[in-house]
Amino acid sequence: MSHLTNILKYAKPYKAYAVGHVISNIFYAFFGALSFIALIPMLDILFKTDFPAPTKEPVYQGIGNLKDFYKDYLAYHVNTYAQDDPQKALLLVVGLIIVLFLLKNIFSYLAYYFMVFLRNGVVRDIRNAVYKKTVELPLSYFSEQRKGDIMARVTTDVATLQYSMLPVLELIAREPLAIIFTIIMMLLISVKLTLFVFIFIPLSGWVISIVGKSLKRKSDRVQTEQGVILSTLEETLTGLRIIKGFNAQNKFNKRFQDSSERFYHFSNKLLNRQNLASPTSEFLGIVVISILLWYGGQLVLVDKSLDGSSFIAYMGLAYNIMVPAKAISRGIYNVKQGNAAAERIQEIIDAENPLKDKEDAVVKTSFNQNVTFENVWFKYEDDFVLKDFNLTIPKGKTVALVGQSGSGKSTLANLITRFYDVTKGAITIDGINIKDLTTDSLRNQMGIVTQDAILFNDSIKNNLKLGKDNATNNEVIEALKVANAWEFVSKLPEGIETNIGDAGNKLSGGQKQRLSIARAVLKSPPIMVLDEATSALDTESERLVQVALENMMRNRTSIVIAHRLSTIQNADEIIVLSKGEIVEKGKHNELIAKKGVYQKLVEMQSFD
Ligand SMILES: Nc1ncnc2c1ncn2[C@@H]1O[C@H](COP(=O)(O)OP(=O)(O)O)[C@@H](O)[C@H]1O
Ligand SMILES: [Mg+2]
Repeated sequence: MSHLTNILKYAKPYKAYAVGHVISNIFYAFFGALSFIALIPMLDILFKTDFPAPTKEPVYQGIGNLKDFYKDYLAYHVNTYAQDDPQKALLLVVGLIIVLFLLKNIFSYLAYYFMVFLRNGVVRDIRNAVYKKTVELPLSYFSEQRKGDIMARVTTDVATLQYSMLPVLELIAREPLAIIFTIIMMLLISVKLTLFVFIFIPLSGWVISIVGKSLKRKSDRVQTEQGVILSTLEETLTGLRIIKGFNAQNKFNKRFQDSSERFYHFSNKLLNRQNLASPTSEFLGIVVISILLWYGGQLVLVDKSLDGSSFIAYMGLAYNIMVPAKAISRGIYNVKQGNAAAERIQEIIDAENPLKDKEDAVVKTSFNQNVTFENVWFKYEDDFVLKDFNLTIPKGKTVALVGQSGSGKSTLANLITRFYDVTKGAITIDGINIKDLTTDSLRNQMGIVTQDAILFNDSIKNNLKLGKDNATNNEVIEALKVANAWEFVSKLPEGIETNIGDAGNKLSGGQKQRLSIARAVLKSPPIMVLDEATSALDTESERLVQVALENMMRNRTSIVIAHRLSTIQNADEIIVLSKGEIVEKGKHNELIAKKGVYQKLVEMQSFD
């Protein structure tokens, strides 16, 4: 139930709707109960027990005689109107019943009406909250296999909440009120009979809770498998070219079908358990009713403490109580099932963000002296990827990082942009630890270009404006020129307004990379981080991108990670990394002359 209260927090902004809902429900429950009592005079007329009714207007004699008062009151007015004509009286009572049921249903609709806004509002807010948190959480939170899981949480888990947990909000006000009003009416008719019924209610509740017990675990398994299905789908769609190229369709089909199969079994179990709710409670209800019929019949026939019409109305009420009781038992099932979804959603919303800005974080508006790595140690998991790393990058200089794959180059780029925090040591900008800066202002000082250009399904202009919202078209074009991209963009039918398709798929690799460089140029940050920006390209595009990079790096501080010499020949300092440690550093010519690791790397890749 704890997750239900969590969900209730999201209902707070919709208090007004909740109030409307509760008030409508009070009327709904009131008219619902009243309509059964109205049956009594009709039955009396039919069975001619009390007809003609009292000739004097009855006097109210306190709450204990409320039912008799209401009954006599009705009977008296029916009588005065009908003037001893039972048919007329019948018509009047039938009319009264229609009016009462109409009122009951109008308020029922009103109650649902208010609830729609509350329910959908809560779903909207929860979905937005999960998405917002997803964007905020650090990269380390999202390993590849988690993508599908997170997609499942934002989509199907929220939908599960919508259809399982939130309808329960309706129950909270409606059904207990209906039960209370019905019980009051029942008590008014016969206290004895009602107390008798009450013995069986906890008994039924117990049976229902046993059936509902394993629902949460079952539902959790279903939702988790849903995540696996989405992961597989996501991976398949991004890797379709490779899957087909390697004829791996069957392999992926099998993987998907295995997951589908598990999902099928888990959902079967869940649904079958869920479907037990309604028949169980209905059967339990009818058992209670039967016992009532037997005991109440005794009261009418033997004890004579109850009249027939009242007993029939009472049975109506007792049956009527089953509707809300059934709804509540189904509600308890739903809460149990929804709990799993709520927990999974809450997990994301509550996920601790280890890279949160400090309370008194400094806003850095400029870069003046240098970036420094001071005795930096770092590990993703168990093994240190960087060991006691020291480096100073003065303003305006270009520092290149080379080394075999896996030596920790990209890790340095991840640390300086604070996608991850160092394990030990510190990274400083102008002497200030980057942990003491706001992440926003830190990243404002940096432009990032990675190996695979990450572009979004939007126009070229909007892709570039990601880092600078207020850029004019001219600035966009200038940036494209610097990035050596204007030449091809200007030839596109719609120029900078051209949509580049999903992930920029309508463009070639080199074109995409030049756009991502243009994006960094437009943002125009003082520090540029280039992580193998050209290594995914063929020689022809590499040359074009190379020009773009040189244009961009002019007058900027740059950290260049590169395989190929051409990019780094002119760097002010080249750092050679091996297994997370610096093994050599110096200028290109010095390192070649040294005939060490760098020279070997150069030979191996036949740089020249
Ligand atoms: N997200 C990650 N989680 C765990 N280990 C990682 C992660 N990213 C990289 N590594 C490991 O850290 C080491 C350095 O990786 P990386 O900095 O990407 O190397 P480079 O860019 O020099 O090729 C590698 O051994 C790699 O397996
Ligand atoms: Mg790398």
